[in-house]
Amino acid sequence: MSQAEPTRIEPLPRPLCGSIRVPGDKSISHRAVLFSAMAQGTSRVRGLLDSKDVRASIGAVSALGAKVDLEKQPDGSLAGEIRGWGEEGPAQPQEPIDCANSGTTARLLMGVLAPWPIRVTLTGDDSLRGRPMRRITAPLMKMGAQFEPAGSETLPITIIGDRDLKAVSYESPMASAQLKTAVLLAGLGAEGETMVTEPAISRNHTELMLPEYGATTTAGERTASVEGPCTLQATEVLVPGDPSSAAFAVCAAMMKRGSQIQVDNVSLNTARIGFTRTLERMGADIELIHKGSAGKEPYGSIHARYSDHLVGCEVPADKIASVIDEIPVLALVAAHAHGVTVFRDVAELKVKESNRLQATKEGLLSLGVECWTHGEDLFIQGDPDLHVPEGIVFDSRGDHRLAMTWALVGLCHNAGVEVTDFACTAVSFPDFLDTLQGAC
Ligand code: S3P
Repeated sequence: MSQAEPTRIEPLPRPLCGSIRVPGDKSISHRAVLFSAMAQGTSRVRGLLDSKDVRASIGAVSALGAKVDLEKQPDGSLAGEIRGWGEEGPAQPQEPIDCANSGTTARLLMGVLAPWPIRVTLTGDDSLRGRPMRRITAPLMKMGAQFEPAGSETLPITIIGDRDLKAVSYESPMASAQLKTAVLLAGLGAEGETMVTEPAISRNHTELMLPEYGATTTAGERTASVEGPCTLQATEVLVPGDPSSAAFAVCAAMMKRGSQIQVDNVSLNTARIGFTRTLERMGADIELIHKGSAGKEPYGSIHARYSDHLVGCEVPADKIASVIDEIPVLALVAAHAHGVTVFRDVAELKVKESNRLQATKEGLLSLGVECWTHGEDLFIQGDPDLHVPEGIVFDSRGDHRLAMTWALVGLCHNAGVEVTDFACTAVSFPDFLDTLQGAC
């Protein structure tokens, strides 16, 4: 909610070229911090994203008694040790825990705390205090946790944990990795198998990482389960680069004529690289080069080359979870393609760090792009000759992914733009601008 002057983003002087690296994956970083804090013993983590969101998770677990000893590395990441509370359980904090802008911190913490005799108030910034939480509290209440105020949809909410949680088999009404993870983490403290079934596949980092901490999990097409009770055991985690951050560089290459770029050391987890498949279906020239795996997370390089004949495509409802954080920037690329692109059933975008559905429409309309919603579907009529007028000011709404999306308009065209509260990029990609400017 900064009131600072908008930031001016000037056009890149040349096409993007060469190799870049993006910071550590945000979802994996949160999990590395939280799971290490839950574990018995001292975990070693490397490649952790140093961003406001991950700092919120670090602050939270520190307040709950984990000993976090991480240092900034020359590449900007955090590395070091986290000693968890293990069998002793989390300490009772004296103050509410401020999750800042981070939905992942707040929602996953509810699952972390549910199996302990503890009473913790979670809160956050204006954006997070407007986001839905009942999707998490409802299944945790079925397991035996309590919340005050009872039935509240928004933070601040106090969680009152219970040592005798019941294992559940939960049919989730939505494809949400945060929801799935909260239930599975609570399930680690319950006797027997806790299972979550989703209507579509969501990101699976939790299922991939928990076995590294000694938990027994199963992962099916749309189901995941854990066996409880289980005390996690300390391990080593190497966090690969964030595909959601890489998406901005790749999409910039789609819009800046003549670009050819490679993003190295990035997670190639199939639940996360839906944006590459969407761009390929639009006719983009993209290559994925697998290099290895960090734990069970595959990683490698993404190679992307500019093309002037992108065509619109349809992204079906069951693929939305795989591109959920990339829809604003994909919509911007779609605005440069021949024909119409449709993203089906994107209601979830309304409850992200801001109402991204409304914001994406407004931003594209200010560029003169025809774009509309019908029901919960988002349509964009592309124009390969899109002309960016001078003097556009985009409202980022304090939302990191919107700030970066609108910055690409200025970077990739001949007219600069202004973006409000650009500093919010520190939530996930603090060096966003330097990284892109350094690639040309
Ligand atoms: C995340 C899951 C997604 C995503 C968010 C991070 C995670 O949210 O949008 O940025 O780390 O589990 P949902 O679980 O609400 O779909």
